[in-house]
Amino acid sequence: MAASIVEHGEDAFRKLFKFYKRRNPPPDFIDVVDFSKGLKNEKVVNAELSPTAISRNDAHIAGLQPVQEWKAFGLRGYPGFIFISNPFLPGSQQHWVKQCLKVDRAYLGEERTSDEEQRFRKAGTKTLLEKLRWVTLGYHYNWDTKTYSAEHYTPFPADLQTLSRYVAAACGFSAFTAEAGILNYYRSDSSLGIHVDESELDHTRPLLSFSFGQTAVFLLGGTKREDPGTAMFMHSGDIMVMSGPSRLLYHAVPCIVAAPTGALLPPPLLQGLDQSPLEDSQVHRVKEEDWEVCAKYIQTSRINMTVRQVLGLGQSFPPAETQRQTPSASGETYHEVDPEGGEDLNPKKRKNSTESW
Ligand code: OGA
Ligand code: MN
Repeated sequence: MAASIVEHGEDAFRKLFKFYKRRNPPPDFIDVVDFSKGLKNEKVVNAELSPTAISRNDAHIAGLQPVQEWKAFGLRGYPGFIFISNPFLPGSQQHWVKQCLKVDRAYLGEERTSDEEQRFRKAGTKTLLEKLRWVTLGYHYNWDTKTYSAEHYTPFPADLQTLSRYVAAACGFSAFTAEAGILNYYRSDSSLGIHVDESELDHTRPLLSFSFGQTAVFLLGGTKREDPGTAMFMHSGDIMVMSGPSRLLYHAVPCIVAAPTGALLPPPLLQGLDQSPLEDSQVHRVKEEDWEVCAKYIQTSRINMTVRQVLGLGQSFPPAETQRQTPSASGETYHEVDPEGGEDLNPKKRKNSTESW
């Protein structure tokens, strides 16, 4: 790989972003950290979890393996960053893919609401799913004011709430409450520009990120936009936790790694759940005819769910008036797109879709 992309310097992170975003010729992935290979890379270290924070039964209910069996890693130079290499139970990932794709109910054979019907008509001949770029959950993020507010709220999905609580607890955050979520939908040519997630009011709470479907390259940078970064793969089922000193680091997704044509789904998605999961299970078997539709989509796409706690203990939203007048602390735009980044998942360019699940 060209030495210039790893050197420290003014534009190191942007260079890295552009390097992996390049299509012709395609980038060399040799320097991308692959946590599925464990400690083979000298930058990768083991991360300590709290194995007793959730019981085997609780883990099972959320579709997760017992915490004792999770492979959790840290990255040298990034304290507070935890990477959990696919801790899902065989079969349970299909549930999350389906939940994320339920946003176009008709796609899954259900009836559309009139609002959905209207959106569908606007979308024209392309299905909503093909056009879908992001969905917000809980306290819905306002991309224009870069704020969350009490007014724009829908109950956070219970299954994702449980999953998030357990993952946070295993990582040492026992009081985490999922309050806002952003689902990002990536086609094979999508990317997500360089940004920091700083709109949440309490930055002592971790940010959780769950990845399903096609593999992505994720870039983790520093506290300044131009700081150098590290590239890593996110495979289906991988979970990332940004906490402590890593909570406010710049990051981006420059590319989705193209699966060879005709390739099967990522292995963890090939299997479904049994007919009868535990009675109180939060994850459910996806009906065959629904999975057919999901599989077709996820064969060439990636879905990422990020989960955030917005308010800390005793915190509440400032009145709307104040919010509008308060510029974001660093002047950075949430999900700001690299100006030369091309077709990024830019909220300004994206069609909104909210209040689903
Ligand atoms: C985000 C984000 C990363 C991803 O939504 O803020 O950083 O992997 N997503 O999609
Ligand atoms: Mn982010």
